[in-house]
Amino acid sequence: MEIIIQPTVADAQQEAANILRRQIRDKPASVLGLATGSTPIGVYALLVAMHRRGELDFSRVSTFNLDEYVGLPPDHPCSYREFMRQHLFSHVNIASDRIHFPNGLAADIPAHCEEYEAAIARAGGIDLQLLGIGREGHIGFNEPSSSLASRTRIKTLTPQTLKDNADCFGGPDKVPHHVITMGVGTIMDARQCLLLATGEAKASVVAGMVEGPITADLPASILQLHPVCRLVIDEAAAAKLRRADYYRWVYANKPGWQRS
Ligand code: PGA
Repeated sequence: MEIIIQPTVADAQQEAANILRRQIRDKPASVLGLATGSTPIGVYALLVAMHRRGELDFSRVSTFNLDEYVGLPPDHPCSYREFMRQHLFSHVNIASDRIHFPNGLAADIPAHCEEYEAAIARAGGIDLQLLGIGREGHIGFNEPSSSLASRTRIKTLTPQTLKDNADCFGGPDKVPHHVITMGVGTIMDARQCLLLATGEAKASVVAGMVEGPITADLPASILQLHPVCRLVIDEAAAAKLRRADYYRWVYANKPGWQRS
């Protein structure tokens, strides 16, 4: 895993946006796996700004979002489709038929989940998967105890996640308890992963993910087995890493041709 520690949240967001820009420039028909939550909002704003400056063309890009709430219509103000429309899709030249989400209203959820996996395969697989991390170590909505080989399926949120996602709904008791999420195995199939985490509230879980054991109790720890995974964090999220100095040294001495 490549661990990139940036001084501030803004620097970490810029680094993540630069990695995505390089991906899209290198492969204009990239298949991106996208994430929601508060962490990537700044990255999407930077991508929109790059697009407006003429630096990024989304016309051939396809996207698959990680997850969606069960029971919410796509135009619900708290749906993840609406989140992505607001922060990215309505501002760039992406084709609407290349945007994919799990359907929270699917009548047959297992069949829909199988179809989501099939659609990813038909698109050629995910080139780069953007990820956040939950306070308890989820990626997508793969909460602790998720099978590390899981595929897209329905999951039940933890009380911590209900609390963390309560704002839009007006309280944790109003957040849907169930979601459809790509599985840990689905995420691990992406050719590259890019996990962005910022702020001191993520310091413990980041340390566990990078330097702790691989365990379903902290699903993001499976990324230790991913061959091309970059973790971009600010100093606050890096505060509990034992080998932070080594990671900084590696990044400072990275060959120029490897930079985004
Ligand atoms: P956050 O969520 O960006 O709102 O902290 C991250 C996640 O749940 O993956």
